[in-house]
Amino acid sequence: MKCLRNTKVVVVLVLVMVSWQINGELSEMEMAPMEEAEQGGLYSVIQGFVGSWWNGSDLYPDPCGWTPIQGVSCDLFDGLWYVTALNVGPIHENSLGCATRVEFRPQLFEFKHLKTLSFFNCFVSRHKHPVSIPTSNWEKLASKLESLEFRSNPGLIGQVPASLGSLVKLQSLVLIENGLAGELPAEIGYLVSLERLVLSENRLSGSIPDSFGGLNRLLILDLSGNSLSGQLPPSLGSLTSLLKLDLSNNFLEGNLPNEISNMKCLTLLDLSTNKFTGLLVKPLEKLSSLEQMVLSNNPIGGDLKSLEWEKLEKLAILELSNTSLGGQIPESISELKRLRFLGLSDNNLSGNLSPRLAKLPCVGALYLNGNNLTGELKFSAWFYEKMGRRFGAWDNPNLCYTTAIGPSPPPSHVPYGVKPCQTKVKLVEPGSEAYLGHAVLNQTSHFLASLGLSSNVVYGFWWLVSLELLLMFSFL
Ligand SMILES: *[C@@H]1O[C@H](CO)[C@@H](O)[C@H](O)[C@H]1NC(C)=O
Ligand SMILES: *[C@@H]1O[C@H](CO)[C@@H](O)[C@H](O)[C@H]1NC(C)=O
Ligand SMILES: *[C@@H]1O[C@H](CO)[C@@H](O)[C@H](O)[C@H]1NC(C)=O
Ligand SMILES: *[C@@H]1O[C@H](CO)[C@@H](O)[C@H](O)[C@H]1NC(C)=O
Ligand SMILES: *[C@@H]1O[C@H](CO)[C@@H](O)[C@H](O)[C@H]1NC(C)=O
Repeated sequence: MKCLRNTKVVVVLVLVMVSWQINGELSEMEMAPMEEAEQGGLYSVIQGFVGSWWNGSDLYPDPCGWTPIQGVSCDLFDGLWYVTALNVGPIHENSLGCATRVEFRPQLFEFKHLKTLSFFNCFVSRHKHPVSIPTSNWEKLASKLESLEFRSNPGLIGQVPASLGSLVKLQSLVLIENGLAGELPAEIGYLVSLERLVLSENRLSGSIPDSFGGLNRLLILDLSGNSLSGQLPPSLGSLTSLLKLDLSNNFLEGNLPNEISNMKCLTLLDLSTNKFTGLLVKPLEKLSSLEQMVLSNNPIGGDLKSLEWEKLEKLAILELSNTSLGGQIPESISELKRLRFLGLSDNNLSGNLSPRLAKLPCVGALYLNGNNLTGELKFSAWFYEKMGRRFGAWDNPNLCYTTAIGPSPPPSHVPYGVKPCQTKVKLVEPGSEAYLGHAVLNQTSHFLASLGLSSNVVYGFWWLVSLELLLMFSFL
């Protein structure tokens, strides 16, 4: 039916243009037939968003036929055409743009087969013309609507209405980057068909309702960038099909509930920038599908040794910077063969670095800066060159590097911001031998200069020479 229509369009267009000129109206035969209420309702609903200048019957006399409206999709049911999708907002050049004053017309809830409803960048004036999501009538779309989206509408304020909980067929609820505030209604947890629940970048507050544990078909739960607080409800452990859990950038606190170990399919866990304390807990080890674990900027504390990291064998991204971690970096981290990103910066880690870390086969970024790591870095010049600043070891005052490639390696072959070790080397002085320990470079070069050595020689030797030497030879 649809395809046939397309081939007829050109012919029909010409005929109709002619007949239009003559009769001023279209003959019923060439139109995609619609119920009058459905068609009139469509015009009215769009006019409510686009402005009263928009006259649908003039501009789009055959909205499901040969005068399609950008953003509107139709489908055929029992010989009649019905609106199945309505997308409002400037997605394409000739999309339906919104007026400064918009209204939700009641006909919106009368569409008989509406599956998709979305608003993008439509309600933009937060102060002059704020708009709220209608609180009633959603139950009229309950048996039809599968996808509801409000995206990037700064002028969309007020609460997420509890009545959205009646949309039991809804598979996707996406409310990104709006001005929505207040608490999350427990009724959202009744949307048992939901596969995707994304409420990020709003001003939502309060705690995550217990009822969310009922969304057992959920694949994606993203509540990031709000002001949610309180602890995670243990019921979240019932979300056993979940692939992505993003609760970052909130004020959530407490521990990860033990029930999280049921999320066997989880590939992404992002809890960064919250106030969580207990995150490195044993149940995490059970998340065997996990590829990305991002827990940075939480006052977690404790020790990396609390987990057997090798159990998370699919882990590719492990971000634990600024989490008040102490202790040493355990060897088990080097067992994570798929690791591409390891972020441990701005913690209180101590001890030596295992050279095995540099042997992680996929590693592309390794941030260890801002800790209290000690000893000698013995990674290869090739590693430093490959990684550049993506190997972060600076701000570890007691760390130094040694390298096999001679006294003055090019900067790209040494770790950025780390000083060379003053290793115990033989300084060949005529008639004397000295083993050198710690150095204070500044004074050493003064010392060498005072010996009358040329600056080239100084450059070659200063890194070998030590304060002890200075003191030893101070009789000169
Ligand atoms: C659209 O225009 C027609 C005349 O072309 C007019 O009869 C009708 O009332 C207009 N509708 C709206 C909603 O303005
Ligand atoms: C580090 O984390 C704490 C919370 O634990 C946070 O207050 C602070 O802003 C974070 N620092 C940075 C640089 O993000
Ligand atoms: C850092 O660790 C050292 C022990 O290595 C401890 O004495 C110190 O209190 C820790 N600092 C912080 C801020 O936790
Ligand atoms: C860093 O570690 C050294 C021991 O290796 C310790 O003496 C020093 O107090 C630590 N510094 C901080 C700031 O924790
Ligand atoms: C180097 O020595 C000069 C004077 O000898 C001193 O002013 C300067 O602070 C020293 N620099 C460092 C990094 O110690």
